[in-house]
Amino acid sequence: MNDSSPIITIDGPSGSGKGTIAKRVAGLLGWHLLDSGAIYRGLALSVSKSGADGDDENTVLALCESMNLVFSADSRDESILLNGEDVSQELRAETTGNMASQLAAIGSVRSALLDTQRRYRLLPGLVADGRDMGTTVFPAAELKIYLEASATERAERRYNQLKQKGLSANLANLKKEIAERDERDANRAVSPLRPADDAVVIDSTQMSIDEVVSRVLQLAHSCGVCDSIPD
Ligand code: DC
Repeated sequence: MNDSSPIITIDGPSGSGKGTIAKRVAGLLGWHLLDSGAIYRGLALSVSKSGADGDDENTVLALCESMNLVFSADSRDESILLNGEDVSQELRAETTGNMASQLAAIGSVRSALLDTQRRYRLLPGLVADGRDMGTTVFPAAELKIYLEASATERAERRYNQLKQKGLSANLANLKKEIAERDERDANRAVSPLRPADDAVVIDSTQMSIDEVVSRVLQLAHSCGVCDSIPD
């Protein structure tokens, strides 16, 4: 870990586009990327694959320690290995996201995963995407973004994303699941989903990906974390 590397946090609810934006911004700046949701999703898969009971806190905590989640070093390669198995597709399924959200509500699980997430802070910089990057994991980040979009827009985006990945999706179910997940993520006692006090809130409902990326890069430039705005 290098304490002097700058950090941009991008938090927001499911389907707000933060994953896509974080990846693009990290790629353009040549920075590292932390997809913290994938860590909670990896834990959910570890629990289900081991046949463990998700309500058994000690077993879940042991899995936080033992799971070996490996992201590809090549940003164009989206494959993710869990204990040596390629779980890239399963990781993105809605059932995995819902289970991740339930495990993420357990305070001791969140604490156990703090160091894992902070280890991604490396030079030349880190773009961290999640729910509590700006409030809890990296509270001193140089730039904090909170990305919103209407619930309908988010469900539609998620639907298109799943279809593109060849996964099955039902729009009405997605709307319901997104609403339930928002409710759970925003109302949990530990590190609930909310903008940090010093976050810049961007509503992306009417914005294209390129527009949001440009806005984030402009903000990064004006707060001094990058010398120039990459094209
Ligand atoms: O961003 P995502 O959909 O991949 O995240 C899956 C779930 O993980 C999300 O519903 C809540 C949880 N999560 C969290 O609690 N904190 C984070 N920093 C990232 C994800």
